[in-house]
Amino acid sequence: MYAEDVPLREIAKKTGTPLYVYSHKTLLRHFNAFRESFDHFPHIICFALKANPNAALLILLAKKGCGADVVSGGELFLALKSGIPARKIVYAGVGKTDEEIRYALRSRILMFNVESADELLTIDKIAGEMGVRAPIALRVNPDISTSTHPYISTGLKKHKFGIPIENAVEYYGLARELHHIRILGIHKHIGSQITKLSPFVDALKKVLLLVKKLRSHGIEIKYLDMGGGLGIPYDDNIPPHPKDLAQAILPLLKNQGLTLIMEPGRSIVGNAGILVTKVIYLKKHLKKEFVIVDAGMNDLIRPSLYDAYHQIVPVELNDRLKVVVDVVGPICESGDFFAKNRKMDRPLHGELLAIMSAGAYGFSMSSNYNSRPRAAEVLVKGKDFSVIRERETYKDLLKGIKIPGYLK
Ligand code: LLP
Repeated sequence: MYAEDVPLREIAKKTGTPLYVYSHKTLLRHFNAFRESFDHFPHIICFALKANPNAALLILLAKKGCGADVVSGGELFLALKSGIPARKIVYAGVGKTDEEIRYALRSRILMFNVESADELLTIDKIAGEMGVRAPIALRVNPDISTSTHPYISTGLKKHKFGIPIENAVEYYGLARELHHIRILGIHKHIGSQITKLSPFVDALKKVLLLVKKLRSHGIEIKYLDMGGGLGIPYDDNIPPHPKDLAQAILPLLKNQGLTLIMEPGRSIVGNAGILVTKVIYLKKHLKKEFVIVDAGMNDLIRPSLYDAYHQIVPVELNDRLKVVVDVVGPICESGDFFAKNRKMDRPLHGELLAIMSAGAYGFSMSSNYNSRPRAAEVLVKGKDFSVIRERETYKDLLKGIKIPGYLK
């Protein structure tokens, strides 16, 4: 198996495992798919950093004109440091702190996607203290079901996100009264790994009705931020292409005088990355067979957390017997697995496996649980590969630790 023109075996030999490998070409292809599909409509693509905030990947996207959707001061810092212009940065999240709001105002980001009246008042107060006006959109919750995993669905009334769409006029009315707030847009994000077009279309229709209503109240909306959420193939499902999304929604946006903002994360980076891991033991007891690998739920938590499916294939591709196995990590939790009862090519002791579609919410959700240094990340471009994040060392596990004097 190759990443672009480099055998994975070669990369793993040099950097060890577990290891995230990304393809330069695939990342750009995915970004360009959005860019080209929306080419004829005023738009900004704001990559959702939470999917993968590696600065090397961000610099690559920034050079192609990509913006950023951030949800913390840390993400804002990484976006700015990677050369993403502040005028292409939108800032969402239900719990922005005063410090984070100040930082974003100082940086002159495009707009805050505000999620509550309390937050709106806080932003107004801080902007007043700084002598500026804060550009905002209100995140509305259109109450649309997405039939995705409950943990990654966000657009229903019961969710903590945004303000109920039926109260939006009232909230915009409040925003208009605030001296240090400048209304710029409207925002929605209904969930992630959405594999059909209808939820996007339904939600957009609701938001456009609202835009019309707001305009009839004299409230001007310039940017419509439709959030992210386009799904990717993890198995044999085929979600819509950005081109299909464009075809479904652009007719609705015609002659509305709006600039469209999109916040794709997974659909740009998900299938541009894999996690390479080594089989350390094969174990059989009773009727079960386990393949124990050197990556754990601390490296890729999606199967444990969402019961997510990731294809797993041996890096040395050849014909072999099929077996039914659990692929598990070394962590002391039964939830530490990558696949259960999976029919796959019989893995061999010591060989490499590729866990596919791991570029999004892989490294970004990783941790040091069980005191495991975090994996390395590598970017492949043609025949070359570069380490874009060094593997952590044991020493890193002590970073920031302070021992009280009485223990010395
Ligand atoms: N915009 C906002 C406001 C979001 O909350 C999210 C994702 C995105 C954009 C990007 O969504 P995407 O295009 O990547 O679907 N950890 C979960 C996914 C959580 C998504 C959270 N919000 C997973 O591994 O499936």
